[in-house]
Amino acid sequence: MATPDDRGSWLLYLSLAAKCAGEQPYRLAGFLAVCAVAFVVTCLLHWCFPGGPAWGRWWWTRRLGAGAGGGATAVAAALPGPRGLPVVGSMWLMTGLAHRKLAAAAGSLGARRLMAFSLGGTRVVVASHPDVAREILSSPAFADRPIKESAYGLLFHRAIGFAPYGAYWRALRRVASTHLFSPRQVAASAAQRAVIARQMVGAVKELSAASPGRRGGVEVRRVLRRGSLHSVMWSVFGRRYDLELDPARESPETRELRRLVDEGYDLLGQINWSDHLPGLACLDLQSTRARCDRLVPLVTRFVGGIVDEHRARNHLRSAPPAVVDFTDVLLSLPADDRLTDADMIAVLWEMVFRGTDTVAVLMEWALARLVLHPDVQARVHDELDRVVGPHRAVTESDTASLVYLHAVIKEVLRMHPPGPLLSWARLATSDVHVDGHLIPAGTTAMVNMWAITHDPDVWAEPTEFQPERFMGSTEFPIMGSDLRLAPFGAGRRSCPGKSLAMATVAFWLATLLHEFELLPSPVDLSEVLKLSCEMAVPLALAVTARPRQAVQKSVGVSVSL
Ligand code: HEM
Repeated sequence: MATPDDRGSWLLYLSLAAKCAGEQPYRLAGFLAVCAVAFVVTCLLHWCFPGGPAWGRWWWTRRLGAGAGGGATAVAAALPGPRGLPVVGSMWLMTGLAHRKLAAAAGSLGARRLMAFSLGGTRVVVASHPDVAREILSSPAFADRPIKESAYGLLFHRAIGFAPYGAYWRALRRVASTHLFSPRQVAASAAQRAVIARQMVGAVKELSAASPGRRGGVEVRRVLRRGSLHSVMWSVFGRRYDLELDPARESPETRELRRLVDEGYDLLGQINWSDHLPGLACLDLQSTRARCDRLVPLVTRFVGGIVDEHRARNHLRSAPPAVVDFTDVLLSLPADDRLTDADMIAVLWEMVFRGTDTVAVLMEWALARLVLHPDVQARVHDELDRVVGPHRAVTESDTASLVYLHAVIKEVLRMHPPGPLLSWARLATSDVHVDGHLIPAGTTAMVNMWAITHDPDVWAEPTEFQPERFMGSTEFPIMGSDLRLAPFGAGRRSCPGKSLAMATVAFWLATLLHEFELLPSPVDLSEVLKLSCEMAVPLALAVTARPRQAVQKSVGVSVSL
């Protein structure tokens, strides 16, 4: 389908072709040859422009419009950026470790503040400077997100993360902020996190005992992922599971859910060529559509089944349930706000999805850093001994006093932001100026948080792990007001789960470190960028129990493994 931008090109081909007078069959051959040459010339003209073909196409269209007296807007000065290849642009920049490639390209082109590039036919800008990042993230013109085929296929356009900015999105955010992420709700779910923390401690002990003498024996990722999944399942669905690492003993429901989450995670994390080269969409070369089509009925059956159970249970009850989970909340919304079943499934599924990986990924990086920096670990242990002591377990309220642990978490977020490109991009809904440049409506905007947190002009010795940098007299805010470190984004579409995430990570890390000493063992800090930026080689922990007294008994939680 021709977009308005394409119309100029097609008019050009047709008028050239009309000039091909001659006898049959030469007329047809001439027509095709002229079209082919015109197509190649157009591609080259578009490609010549800084930022590559998508920017070139926009620029020429604007210029022709302005030249014909139709364009009131002056043609903007070009933003610096790589041209990439004709037609596909700089698609390769988004493969592999995209945050590093984009940072290197921006550095070499002197485009740290704002760089333009093309992903096929998609115009993209990326900011690697805190001031420009703030302009983008807090501007109402960027309150939307570009919707990927996979997000659409997985129904995420009906959930908070990808819903278009408007009344529906606002209503969802309001409900989630009040009933899942408010300080009161986060505090109310502390007991659930405490149970899971004890289960994780038990699981690490069990795995460690199963590999005696093996240094670096506990692959902690499995424990963290399951702990996070169970935590989110508990608050969202009211489902409580034991943390079972043996697949043979794991409940079929958790096994199924893990499979669904892993598949969705993979689909959303990949770069899909059809999103940027619409001509390829019908071919579904990466099987994205086919995989989404297979996954959605499974998710609908799984989550829909839980919704139906809640409905049936609430129907039988005369009084409201004592413990309310997020599914109950959605079911009890007043008629005006009530969601359809399909929308409810999308919202619940997204929460499970978003809440699982980010927390586990951040914790794995934090543990890796603590293995690599025994001096930092010793300071965390000292703080725990001072605040908690050896005779009782950590409680979530202790974490407010664990100032150094918070500094460690901030430093881990700085060095290894789980969303180095802030996970999901923004979309310009109208023409807007950023850093003095005109950014046309329909442009995708990204913030390279990784580049900002590794910029020597922003952070002293950015490649050094130094939690002490956050131990100044004033607290460094990381929730979006200071763009030098905003791992949860900023503005109206910033992460609504940030307080819950920070409470969970601080408490679970404190519990694991209170219980264990992490022994020196090999750590590979290589990254792999999926939906989040993970450790490419799973961390294998060697642990030893710290000298403590009967903590399990003091919290009275039985660990079932
Ligand atoms: C360490 C943990 C986490 C990190 C680093 C993180 C990071 C992010 C980032 C960078 C964004 C995009 C922000 C923007 O565009 O400005 C985001 C959005 C979002 N996050 Fe998180 N997140 C975390 C945990 C969570 C949790 C636990 C949940 C829910 C259970 C959650 C739910 C969401 C949702 C629903 C959005 C979409 C918001 C919208 O578009 O309005 N996140 N997150």
